[in-house]
Amino acid sequence: MKVESCPLDAGVLVVILILGSFDMLHEAISLLVRYEEAGGAPIGSDAKTCCCRRLDTIGGNGLRENLLQPRSLATEAIAHGRLTRMSILLTGAAGFIGFHVAKALLERGERVIGIDNLNEYYDVRLKEARLDHLRADRGFAFEKLDVADRAAVFALLERHKDLRSIIHLAAQAGVRHSLKDPYVYVEANVLGTLVMLEAARRIENLRGIVYASSSSVYGANKKQPFSVEDPVDLPVSLYGATKRSCELVAQAYSHLYGISAIGLRYFTVYGPWGRPDMAAYLFTTAILAGKPIMVFNEGRMARDFTYIDDIVLGTIAAHDRLPAAGSETRHAIYNLGNHRSEKLTDFIAVIERALGRTAQKVLLPLQPGDVAETFADIEASRRDLGFDPKTTIETGIVRFVQWYKEYHGVS
Ligand SMILES: NC(=O)c1ccc[n+]([C@@H]2O[C@H](COP(=O)([O-])OP(=O)(O)OC[C@H]3O[C@@H](n4cnc5c(N)ncnc54)[C@H](O)[C@@H]3O)[C@@H](O)[C@H]2O)c1
Repeated sequence: MKVESCPLDAGVLVVILILGSFDMLHEAISLLVRYEEAGGAPIGSDAKTCCCRRLDTIGGNGLRENLLQPRSLATEAIAHGRLTRMSILLTGAAGFIGFHVAKALLERGERVIGIDNLNEYYDVRLKEARLDHLRADRGFAFEKLDVADRAAVFALLERHKDLRSIIHLAAQAGVRHSLKDPYVYVEANVLGTLVMLEAARRIENLRGIVYASSSSVYGANKKQPFSVEDPVDLPVSLYGATKRSCELVAQAYSHLYGISAIGLRYFTVYGPWGRPDMAAYLFTTAILAGKPIMVFNEGRMARDFTYIDDIVLGTIAAHDRLPAAGSETRHAIYNLGNHRSEKLTDFIAVIERALGRTAQKVLLPLQPGDVAETFADIEASRRDLGFDPKTTIETGIVRFVQWYKEYHGVS
């Protein structure tokens, strides 16, 4: 192979080292390795080592800072270097968690191809409003597409040869709705995840796939806190059963085709731009309208409420730490929860204080499909992902209420 000039000049390399995103550093290392293999000597004998060290920092303690980096300089590095920017396929980009993950990835200079079918499970205007924010960033592209439509997904891969990883968050969410419309859960969640794993097989130089699972897989388990080591064979909702199915299908695909995969069991996520079918949003809407709120299991419920910013950091850490090719274990599952089980009555009291109003409570029995308590054991997520949730419900709810009032124009 002919030795050409070094693919990265010193100036570009310095900018990438200081400000480059995870994928940029990855690409820089592989360019330098290819160049060395072809007999070239890169600028400075330790350029590759420096890139590797920086990669470790980003994946470790530096993750939080890295998310906040200004992206303009990193973008300049791409414009002036011979570095190709890699893209991440993000499903469910118009959804609550997808929107926040996309925003954080764009802020650190990644290119995001977002897909979503914009279904009407809740107000589509909220999904559109989230997308409007993301579209303001040139690194974001969106296609309205169903993840279960394999022909459309494979055609998208043909149009985006620069894809290197997938963050799969699209799903039919909600425990209670799975009693009303069961088929959509199997289609969107199980078939949708199978299609995304098939898509992963088709991506050249794939880094891997991160996918959303749920605390619902713990079903009727009594032992608290819920650990990823616990058996999860007793789902109490179809939603939980579909999420467990996704984990099993991902395990089989990882084993069969050597796909690096991480499943994240999210625990009751809340925060700005949140889902209108979830407790924080439902209670806030009802209390402000002077309407009663429905309190299930007569208030004897507890949830590990997890603030969206913590979830975003955990999700991106999982993406950045996907098991490398050749690792013994290519598929891992982690809990992302706050590691505090809060009484539902305390959660309501925090919302009341943030709104300065008192809720009228209607006490009702436990709903079919619901569980009385969730509580995440996050030891493995702390150890392997550096996951360190910090937001209390007191802080998180104030931020949610502030966003809610702005978004709905409530004074
Ligand atoms: N929010 C939570 O507390 C929580 C807890 C556990 C697990 N999860 C999981 O996290 C993920 C994100 O949840 P969220 O809270 O952001 O929900 P969300 O409903 O706001 O986002 C999901 C998005 O996926 C899209 N979608 C649904 N079916 C699709 C399909 N067939 N094709 C393409 N797009 C489709 C929806 O339009 C929506 O925008 C989901 O997989 C959910 O099951 C969420």
